Amino acid sequence: MTTTRKPKAAKSKTAAKIAKTLDIKVESADILDVETPAVVVNLFRGVKKPGGATGVVDKALGGLISELIEEGEIKGGTGETTLIHTLGKIKASRVLVAGLGPQDKFDAQVVRRVSAEVVRFLRRKGVSHAVTIAHGAGIGGLDPQLSGQAIAEGAHLGLYRFGNYLTKENNNSTEFEELTVVELDKGRAKEIGAGVKLGTSTATSSIIARDMVNEPANHMTPTSMAEAAQKVAKDQGLKIQVLDNPEMKKMGMGAFMGVAQGTDEPAKMIIIRYEGDPKNPENNLGLIGKGITFDTGGISLKPPGGMEAMKGDMAGGASVIAAMQVIGEIKPKINVLAVVAATENMPGASAQRPGDVVRAMNGKTIEVINTDAEGRLVLADALCYAREQGITRLVDVATLTGAMVTTLGKACTGVMGNDDTLVRQTIDAGHKTGEKFWELPLFDEYKDLIKSDVADMKNSGGRQAGSITAAMLLAEFVEGAAWVHLDIAGTSTSDRLSGYLVKGATGVPVRTLAQLAVDLANEGVPKKSRSKAKAK
Ligand code: BES
Ligand code: MN
Ligand code: ZN
Repeated sequence: MTTTRKPKAAKSKTAAKIAKTLDIKVESADILDVETPAVVVNLFRGVKKPGGATGVVDKALGGLISELIEEGEIKGGTGETTLIHTLGKIKASRVLVAGLGPQDKFDAQVVRRVSAEVVRFLRRKGVSHAVTIAHGAGIGGLDPQLSGQAIAEGAHLGLYRFGNYLTKENNNSTEFEELTVVELDKGRAKEIGAGVKLGTSTATSSIIARDMVNEPANHMTPTSMAEAAQKVAKDQGLKIQVLDNPEMKKMGMGAFMGVAQGTDEPAKMIIIRYEGDPKNPENNLGLIGKGITFDTGGISLKPPGGMEAMKGDMAGGASVIAAMQVIGEIKPKINVLAVVAATENMPGASAQRPGDVVRAMNGKTIEVINTDAEGRLVLADALCYAREQGITRLVDVATLTGAMVTTLGKACTGVMGNDDTLVRQTIDAGHKTGEKFWELPLFDEYKDLIKSDVADMKNSGGRQAGSITAAMLLAEFVEGAAWVHLDIAGTSTSDRLSGYLVKGATGVPVRTLAQLAVDLANEGVPKKSRSKAKAK
């Protein structure tokens, strides 16, 4: 091989080493009694006379907030921030009025956004501690627990910065360290506290995925992905198994190994097991992730412009590993198997060629038309493996196609699948987390596009319906199981700072995968018709 780079056992660094992690507390207290550098209140758009806690603070300030509303300086638009110095009129040194937008559009997603904008605003001002009321838990009509969860998620995710490679002089800005949510009613404070705990768990795990995706590919190798997975498994007491190239070859994973043969970097199949309902093996969920730690395209080499973004081609795998962390923490009553196929896609001297035919673990053959359509090849074997393990409900997550970015942009993840119920459940889980999904069809007609003259199928369907033909190939490896495919090529990264998303990795769809596991667990053991699906 021409590529002689030694596999590097990169230590998994996290942003937390530089940035202090935010601490969120919940206290039962009167907003006017707390001594703090800043107290955060809120306002819906169009409200002239603030009520609730904002009204209480307004009164204590002699009607200053009302006056600013009257003058048009405070409008209550979503994410609007107005800082008022209290000059000793109340115990808090500053009051920050956060706009919640129109009341009819208010939901948990608004709280996440506002919470992110607020903590970032305070950080910019050099304020490291603040007290806030629970947005929406009053007239907003939000469940107090959900409010607490959304505040925690917004704050943690919004403050996130990837600073692993910034030396001191480029990394001297202040940190926002402590947020205290106050609520007079003790019962509600308790509910908010439960929400904060849950939100901290989901956000912290999303950040694990963000860190892995943002990490450059010379550090985030398949070996370091496996190490990150080992850490999650160890922290949560989950079973983990990592398969290496010789084992995988023996098991017949020809599609995965075809991609892996172009690099000297050892490939890894990372398998994590969470056993939340060991007595009912049919109550299961498989989470399958694409873990291409760098996608050059292989012999069908990509053009150089923007190729650096392909360090993020393992985002699906990262989100699956990170979701196992939340699942391990919140312990839903369901068995979850995570399978991540991790390798580089490099054009080494032993790389596979266009025209090569590979055989996946289930015996089906694939003609490799384009070595850059590698994601579906590695997923084919990962899906087969999960089916062999008896998994009957599958969700795969992958930065699979550039066509997905063309179709849906970065606003939502494309969903495709063979089971309407599981598709619906995934989209519904997304409604709860604020991560958006949109379904694309898998009509039989599309299957013609991946017909091959020399093999059972080909790995590229040409220019038409690129995201769908990729999914049509995956469908060939899930026979008998309910299956959903999530193409996160657009949503796994953000090109700008917006709400709780920062530039770079988003951590999508970690929170939705965890929510789905919880929802499926609450629904109970699937009906017999489902478990008819047998592993091949
Ligand atoms: N990793 C890419 C897809 C991708 C593109 C993700 C842009 C994120 C941003 C994938 O492996 C790929 O190269 N797909 C090809 C498939 C084609 C050769 C059939 C594509 O989309 O061009
Ligand atoms: Mn590719
Ligand atoms: Zn790829």
